[in-house]
Amino acid sequence: MRKPMPYEQRGITSSRLAFGCMKLSGGPKALPISEETILQTERAIDAALEAGITMFDHADAYAKGQAEAVFGEALRRRPQLREQITIQTKCGYRVEEGKAKQYDFSSPHIVAAVDRSLKRLGVERLDVLLLHRPDPLMEPEDIAEAFDQLRIAGKVAHFGVSNVGAEQMRFLQRYLPVPLVVNQLDLSLGKLDWLDSGILMNRTIAKTVRFPEGTLEYCRAENIQLQAWGSLAQGRFSGRVMENVTEAERQTTELVGRMASEKETTPESIILGWLMKHPARIQPVTGTLNPERILACADAARQAELMTRDEWYALYQSSRGEVIP
Ligand SMILES: NC(=O)c1ccc[n+]([C@@H]2O[C@H](COP(=O)([O-])OP(=O)(O)OC[C@H]3O[C@@H](n4cnc5c(N)ncnc54)[C@H](OP(=O)(O)O)[C@@H]3O)[C@@H](O)[C@H]2O)c1
Repeated sequence: MRKPMPYEQRGITSSRLAFGCMKLSGGPKALPISEETILQTERAIDAALEAGITMFDHADAYAKGQAEAVFGEALRRRPQLREQITIQTKCGYRVEEGKAKQYDFSSPHIVAAVDRSLKRLGVERLDVLLLHRPDPLMEPEDIAEAFDQLRIAGKVAHFGVSNVGAEQMRFLQRYLPVPLVVNQLDLSLGKLDWLDSGILMNRTIAKTVRFPEGTLEYCRAENIQLQAWGSLAQGRFSGRVMENVTEAERQTTELVGRMASEKETTPESIILGWLMKHPARIQPVTGTLNPERILACADAARQAELMTRDEWYALYQSSRGEVIP
């Protein structure tokens, strides 16, 4: 029987997969809103809904705000959509002409950033707000004040973090008036430090694997939803033509392809299913805008249920490029 996701246990509506909006409106190119970028967004949203994906992951920094803006435009064209979806965005990333790039968790910045996101998205409330990357100058009391203000004003329903380790989460949580419900991290079949760090105890190589200790365990124990960014490994194992492919990557691509054809599914669903089989109940955030690839992710939860322990370890070992100790 399927175990509930941490979200569900907290009464938050979400799909098993989330749709990542980072590349909307040209991503780093930050294209101006046009009929073409709106249509691309609408096509991606339609494919996501068809694949059963109702959670959309934004950040104020994506496409310099244009990703939220173009999504907002698509919502304005179909206002009934708002009730069917869960909107998550992030703040705290600050890039301004003539200034050093920085993270900013000060209360005035967080509150103003949320107001700007609400305006661009054209919505009254964010379902989830994440702090994007830890600000070394953060004062937790200041963050607490911002969260309180946003919650009381009804502008944000739930709060979380991204790229934060267990100790920083514990530290923050001590001061916050609300529970952190999400931690979004770089987790995938292509980036294995989150698993390797847990199995390399007493091995010299452990010194080279850097992943904040106890982060998965803390999130599991505290019922915090782990989300995986980079979850498709940028297509590395599912057909993307890439330079400098290692032997391990070549073999993993072959193994993923073989499993997909044996199970009559897609490589994308195998890759995501592998992540979702982990008992932390990880929610992959996919970054493809290609409608066919979005639909290719739809079978991931089923593949997670079907995947055997042997298959899971075969994929892990293949991507590691060596047997576990
Ligand atoms: N919290 C953070 O710090 C953070 C950082 C990065 C990302 N994120 C979030 O996570 C989401 C996903 O991240 P991501 O984009 O790095 O992850 P991803 O899903 O692993 O990669 C998506 C990218 O890979 C390409 N791709 C996938 N399969 C392909 C294939 N078979 N052939 C060619 N290209 C392929 C996609 O291009 P097509 O569109 O052409 O398919 C897209 O550019 C983002 O949208 C964002 O919401 C969060």
